[in-house]
Amino acid sequence: MKLKYFSHSAFQLTTDNGKVILIDPFLDDNPTSPIKSNDVHADYIILSHAHGDHVGDAFKIAKRCNPLFICVYELANYCISKGFNAHPLHIGGGNNFDFGRVKFTIAHHGSQTPEGNYAGSPAGIIISTGGKNIYHTGDTGLFYDMKLIGEMNSIDYMLLPIGDNFTMGIDDAVKAVEFVNPKIAIPMHYNTFPPIATDPNVFKTKVEALGKKCIVLKFGEEIQI
Ligand code: NI
Ligand code: MN
Repeated sequence: MKLKYFSHSAFQLTTDNGKVILIDPFLDDNPTSPIKSNDVHADYIILSHAHGDHVGDAFKIAKRCNPLFICVYELANYCISKGFNAHPLHIGGGNNFDFGRVKFTIAHHGSQTPEGNYAGSPAGIIISTGGKNIYHTGDTGLFYDMKLIGEMNSIDYMLLPIGDNFTMGIDDAVKAVEFVNPKIAIPMHYNTFPPIATDPNVFKTKVEALGKKCIVLKFGEEIQI
């Protein structure tokens, strides 16, 4: 299985059965992504919420690749209204797909379409595939129920924001890692724009001080997981 980090909250997961899953593919207007939307393929696109820096180029990619969107009901309806295929989930619910399972968790944030319409709740995403559990928290502040998420799911990779301003900053993100207790923490949602500039190595040092592992992925880097 392979995990690629484009930058911001945008990841690509290539599963053992060759399915390509994009999460929050914000590429073309993302000044930090070395990879642009014409260069990616998608079988599935999972959106954590409807903000522009997360929906990103999803529709542009979908026109070319015809993926299945996985998002909360209201956002799924928005994708369907644009002519795409979508599977609606909602907070606390999961579904099995041909690559594995996706379950949505709470995330404390907002969600609004580019046209300014209500898009349901923002979500965190747990993907279970290839014997691994990957938890992409979406945009969120710190919340104590992360402890429950960690108790009920053995998380291998936790992808979480550290950029502050719109989401958790470093200290709250370190506490989130403590709550969820993943095998490996991967920071995201930083250095894309000046308001979320921060040093991921400060986060890494603090996570390692907890005795936990942290990988700071380079923008565009792909790792075997
Ligand atoms: Ni957001
Ligand atoms: Mn965001």
